[in-house]
Amino acid sequence: MTTVIAIANQKGGVGKTTTATNLAAAFAMKKKRTLLIDLDPQANTTLTFFPLDELAQSVYDVLADHHVKLAEVVKPTRTPNLCVAPAKIALAKLETLLVGQFDAPYRLKDALAPCRDEFDMILIDTPPALGLITVNALVASTHLLVPIQAAYYAMEGSDDLLDTLERIRSRPNPELQLLGVVITLFDKRTNLARDIHKQVCTVFGDKVFKTVVNKNVRLEESPAYKETVFTFAPDSSGAQDYERLAREVLQRVQ
Ligand SMILES: Nc1ncnc2c1ncn2[C@@H]1O[C@H](COP(=O)(O)OP(=O)(O)O)[C@@H](O)[C@H]1O
Ligand SMILES: [Mg+2]
Repeated sequence: MTTVIAIANQKGGVGKTTTATNLAAAFAMKKKRTLLIDLDPQANTTLTFFPLDELAQSVYDVLADHHVKLAEVVKPTRTPNLCVAPAKIALAKLETLLVGQFDAPYRLKDALAPCRDEFDMILIDTPPALGLITVNALVASTHLLVPIQAAYYAMEGSDDLLDTLERIRSRPNPELQLLGVVITLFDKRTNLARDIHKQVCTVFGDKVFKTVVNKNVRLEESPAYKETVFTFAPDSSGAQDYERLAREVLQRVQ
């Protein structure tokens, strides 16, 4: 069965995109047929792989118009086993367009249905909000992965996110499970980062991944060179952390 993981946290800058991109690449390297769906109008995930002007259609066209199939916008990347469904800024118009449509929360789930079986792992990067786009991601997913930045106010907003998880579970998608919480941008030299790590573990218990993603400048640099960390800096701590996280995720979903 295909595992579909939404990567969500309504805070910006917590490592959602970095996690989506590099975790997807790590799965692909482990020979998992992987699809990475960019649902953020900012298209940062997409930009790691393609120049935006090369893209005719994007997930916006699929979600806005029933006649465009997801398979028509999915593109292979230079990483074997890794395909991307790209986003464009047009996605910012989607929420307004879908207001009042009876199937609004189900658009992505419906679009995924015909090609779900072609992949082992599907990852969805989401925007920093709990609106209709993130709801579409959660309705289409089997799992939710929450990156939490090891910084002041790290846990602010996590109640709202868990509340959204419960509401989606109670109606549109009872199958949805909290896969786990991953601490990102961790700086082991600071007491603050260690304190936050403790706090997150107190709240989320064994849902917190043992793997912590350390601060690593290679993770920041690689998208600018249109590469994942595995091709840009395979020996970096960033590559090691995401490879480890991928192993832990695979253990949890099996
Ligand atoms: N572990 C890390 N070490 C160093 N920089 C990171 C790390 N994770 C993310 N970043 C950088 O932090 C910024 C925000 O990360 P990003 O993944 O875009 O967050 P989000 O998608 O949640 O907004 C980006 O510039 C990214 O390159
Ligand atoms: Mg992002």
